Amino acid sequence: MNAPIGIIGGSGLYRMEGLSLDRTELVQTPFGAPSGPVHLGQLDGAPVAFLARHGEGHRFTPSEVNYRANLWALKSLGVERLISVSAVGSLQARHKPGELRLVGQFIDKTRQRKDTFFGEGLVAHVSFAEPVCAHATAALLKAGQSLSIPIEDGVTYVCMEGPAFSTRAESRLHQSWGADLIGMTQVTEARLAREAELCYACIALVTDYDAWREEEEGVDAASVLEVMHANVDKAQRLLRKVVPQLSCSPRSCACGEALKAALFTAPEAVT
Ligand code: ADE
Repeated sequence: MNAPIGIIGGSGLYRMEGLSLDRTELVQTPFGAPSGPVHLGQLDGAPVAFLARHGEGHRFTPSEVNYRANLWALKSLGVERLISVSAVGSLQARHKPGELRLVGQFIDKTRQRKDTFFGEGLVAHVSFAEPVCAHATAALLKAGQSLSIPIEDGVTYVCMEGPAFSTRAESRLHQSWGADLIGMTQVTEARLAREAELCYACIALVTDYDAWREEEEGVDAASVLEVMHANVDKAQRLLRKVVPQLSCSPRSCACGEALKAALFTAPEAVT
């Protein structure tokens, strides 16, 4: 059975609680191997595909993740809507460690990733002004509210290359841009999801205050994982609520037609 809803789990979310597993698939793609096997099963009756972004045992840095293979693998298993979960640092005092946020906008500071399916004779420029699926994000917001999980949507996420965290000067610069959160992965997935005509929504779990608070030490990986582990159940509960809802509501957005007005290469040149 195909899975129309996909979940990508980030640091600290390596398996999906409540997933009754039907099978695992190690998908080969034109871009190489994805981060690991895709777990296919039912989440409270709704078919889903789950993939751990950094691989089992957390083996890939954000720059090493084969995002193209991950997205290709999920799409080839029937995924139409993708929900991604990741740990983020907070750039504003109101986004507190342990809380969930839904990303609305990105600032992309990555510099060494393959973040397009196009090139090598096939040119397309997808529209990315609204980089996430408004419908899937609204469903997540509603689900969070119904579970009384403090949540805010429409926040701006700076995506940095990593793997080192920011300097204090960089952290203050990102803050001065009015950005809310910082992470290392989600914009790359969002770009590829749009090109693959998938709906994409981002659950960000705040794990730290990055490096802008002079009175505090900068962030470290151990504390990110500790806060993630202590709060990952919120993201899991949100997913268990929203996935069955989304799986019985048809797609009513334009995400599935992103390539309609995007292709530059003449159709007769595409073999
Ligand atoms: N992931 C979690 N916290 C982060 C931070 N402060 N910067 C970048 N990525 C993060």
